[in-house]
Amino acid sequence: MSVARLIQKKRDGGTLDPQEIAPFFNAYARGDVAEYQMAAFLMAVYYRGMEPGELNALVEALLRSGITVDLSSVPGIKVDKHSTGGVGDKVSLVLAPLVASLGVPVPMMSGRGLGHSGGTVDKLEAIPGFRTDLTVAEYRAQLERVGCALISQTAEVAPLDRRLYALRDVTATVESIPLIASSIMSKKLAEGLDALVLDVKLGNGAFLPEEHRATELARTMIGIGRAHGKQVVALLTAMDRPLGCAVGNALEVVECLATLRGGGPSDLRELTLVQAAEMLVLGGVAADAAAAHAAAAAALADGRAAACFQRIIAAQGGDPAVVDDPGLLPQAPVERVLVAEHDGWVGDMDVRAIGFAAVALGAGRRTLDSSIDPAVGFHIPAKPGAAVTTGEPLARIHARTEAAAAEALVELERAIPVVAEPPGASLPLVVRRLTE
Ligand code: URA
Repeated sequence: MSVARLIQKKRDGGTLDPQEIAPFFNAYARGDVAEYQMAAFLMAVYYRGMEPGELNALVEALLRSGITVDLSSVPGIKVDKHSTGGVGDKVSLVLAPLVASLGVPVPMMSGRGLGHSGGTVDKLEAIPGFRTDLTVAEYRAQLERVGCALISQTAEVAPLDRRLYALRDVTATVESIPLIASSIMSKKLAEGLDALVLDVKLGNGAFLPEEHRATELARTMIGIGRAHGKQVVALLTAMDRPLGCAVGNALEVVECLATLRGGGPSDLRELTLVQAAEMLVLGGVAADAAAAHAAAAAALADGRAAACFQRIIAAQGGDPAVVDDPGLLPQAPVERVLVAEHDGWVGDMDVRAIGFAAVALGAGRRTLDSSIDPAVGFHIPAKPGAAVTTGEPLARIHARTEAAAAEALVELERAIPVVAEPPGASLPLVVRRLTE
């Protein structure tokens, strides 16, 4: 079938044969399908969705475009987690060393910031010297030696996803359940894991804010994992407010270090412990979630998790002294505080706007090749529903210049309203757990 006919069939709601999909994507990988044709196809998928057979064929095409890392030399059940992304979601930096410190190998391949949401790789690179671009051989060797590696997607893993992702980013085709599910799961399946915990965000700071769409995304990813013989647990979690208080790369690392030492904000700590419990049970080192939760809390309290993070940082070329001295991390020269103008309650937050305000400060990328300022961002102690009095700090802005701080202040004032009546209840931290 010609490329134009195939696009037309999808556009008109037809179901493509898996035998049509594989050659189409292979031809695109070879350069025999134009970018504008693939863009049109992606838009057709955005509107029409994909049947299970079509989705499987897409996942296979993405997976087969690169290598699947063989981690059989690493003993134990390898368990990773992936978050669909949000504002202040820094769980991975605490979770990976925590779980590894309890004997479950964590092969974690992460992404950079995307749109309004931050990325684990950008946060890690705020640590002076930290390398995320390990080769596959280095990645495997570190997993054998340290039990955890925190890296960015290598060129060999799902390269077709990289190209499609860049195209989706500029053609308004990111927010599609089959496209997100295939993109995430192809990379996860290729990294060599045995089991996966998915943190699927919902609320206005998530890519798919509505609960029914987040649930469908979770079920779709679980289905892909099961089809490839992997155990997958999904947690639907709140992103109607930032997670923790810090938003911005080095600031988030500081908050993670506090959490690794047994402190940190209660929501970050609790969500990390819940995910750790799932990973420890999947990894076969804990009998049930309650025992796993207690073991993880103990590893935060007695310094095992922090020591493991120190080993990971040293292994990846970073300065491990930051764990004991967060003052070694980059710091922004300008600070401004947003205060409550009157008594009232913190209203519903515009979390996406907070994320974009952080990007505008330099914490994320405005274009694909813009560089990140690791030092800038926000510290937002305010949570929706909290009573506040006039003059009480709602947020602290860390900026490179006075002008950037002033701009951010205006954005945050709008995104963190103080209202006369208490707002409706926020989402529970963990909304739902799915395994099927
Ligand atoms: N993260 C990914 O890796 N892919 C998507 O499509 C969305 C989020």
